[in-house]
Amino acid sequence: MKMAVVGAGIVGLTTGAGFADLGHTVQCVDIDTGKIAQLCRGIIPYHEPGLEALVTRNTSAGRLTFGHDPSRLLQDVELIFLTVDTPSDDADEMSLAALWSVIDQLEPWPSSEMRKMIAIKSSVPVGTAERVQSRIRGRLPEHCSVDVVSVPEFMREGSAVRDFFEPTRIVIGSASAEASERLTQIYQRLPGPIMSTDCRSAELTKLAANAFLAVKISFSNEIAALAEQTGADFPSVAHSLGLDPRIGPHFLSAGLGFGGTSLPKDARALVRMADEAGAPQTLVEAAVRANAMIPLRMIRKLEAALSDPARRKVALLGLSFKPGTDNMREAPSLRLVAELNRRHPGITITAYDPEANSVARKLLPPSVIICDSAEEALTGTDAAIIVTEWREFRQIQADDFKNWMNRPIIMDGRNTLDAAGLNSQGVVCIGVGRLPVVPKEFVRNAGEHVPKV
Ligand code: UGA
Repeated sequence: MKMAVVGAGIVGLTTGAGFADLGHTVQCVDIDTGKIAQLCRGIIPYHEPGLEALVTRNTSAGRLTFGHDPSRLLQDVELIFLTVDTPSDDADEMSLAALWSVIDQLEPWPSSEMRKMIAIKSSVPVGTAERVQSRIRGRLPEHCSVDVVSVPEFMREGSAVRDFFEPTRIVIGSASAEASERLTQIYQRLPGPIMSTDCRSAELTKLAANAFLAVKISFSNEIAALAEQTGADFPSVAHSLGLDPRIGPHFLSAGLGFGGTSLPKDARALVRMADEAGAPQTLVEAAVRANAMIPLRMIRKLEAALSDPARRKVALLGLSFKPGTDNMREAPSLRLVAELNRRHPGITITAYDPEANSVARKLLPPSVIICDSAEEALTGTDAAIIVTEWREFRQIQADDFKNWMNRPIIMDGRNTLDAAGLNSQGVVCIGVGRLPVVPKEFVRNAGEHVPKV
């Protein structure tokens, strides 16, 4: 089939390249001419495992092309996937500006009688597919028919390519049985179960999925805080909880909370939409609120471990919202930097991320010293916070921490290090929801018992 994807973000590019790999002819369109110019030169503007190889393979085979103009697309292709950004505005409402702009640029409408499809993949408020359908209905020439359907995307950054080829499920929301059947045929090449439903249910499924994950993470973080206060060990609690198939083992990691392009935005949009619909989502609202407090909790633990933080040097290891990506959208690192600077003006912050350094240079204040390695970031610091659980941080040995740092105090914000092992070798490692949180003698003497190397 000839298809197009409008919005060459990670979701759009992966979807386009993925369908091209399945043998379709795909045009990938984005209004960002710089991005399209890069893609035409074979440069992938994201750190996404496997994406470069997938794109290269399909551009070389001539199945994947790039462009920046969505007009006339409907003349050329049978199916358009919309994967444009729907960022939340100040009132947490999703902005559909990019989506409407694409819809309005699709004119002139096709002259052939072939039925066309517009499949919305972006996260959108419930009812959007119907609104798009009615917006174009009045403008379509009589002989022309376009079905607007909802095919929400559940792929994750960092594993987008794998998630495309091995989806957990494919949800097809459509008011037209014919469109639903055609999309089912296209998706049948992929292994996930296909769920055919109406557009509104498909749209709500997407928002509810991200909101549920947000609730699960915030629940874990709050139980972890309770574990700290009551002397329990949260990772062991989480492991036992996860063995119950009704709870499941995933998304029970406590840490610095959730970030990213979609999860926080979708959870907030659901809350906003639900308020307007008269069905308040108090649980999701509380999960969002709880998430915002987590970096502060970590800073309080740091303050308990360090006297006079304003005169100290602190390293942040990891800046992206999770490993496997250079995305820093709503990353806990941003909040940590802002709060550390606000609460302790004068504090020196160094930072290192294996992939997100160049993004960080644009987003973090210039006072943050971005370093080229963990060693450089840790050297001469009084404490370090593991913000993102990149694998390479697990390779750092106790002796490295002791040799490089002024004081080997590690706040393991993702419970990724061997805390007991490091503690036994003289490194203070303070995790989330685990004991010992702060060794007693250490608190009493405000850090002076940690051997200076
Ligand atoms: C999320 C969803 O998982 C995808 O299904 C969805 O398609 C995507 O949003 C989207 O709507 O575009 P993603 O943003 O890639 O995917 O990130 P996740 O892997 O879900 O992680 C989200 C955040 O939760 C990260 O900051 C991660 O560190 C945090 N997290 C995750 C925890 O704090 N604890 C956990 O146990 C799991």
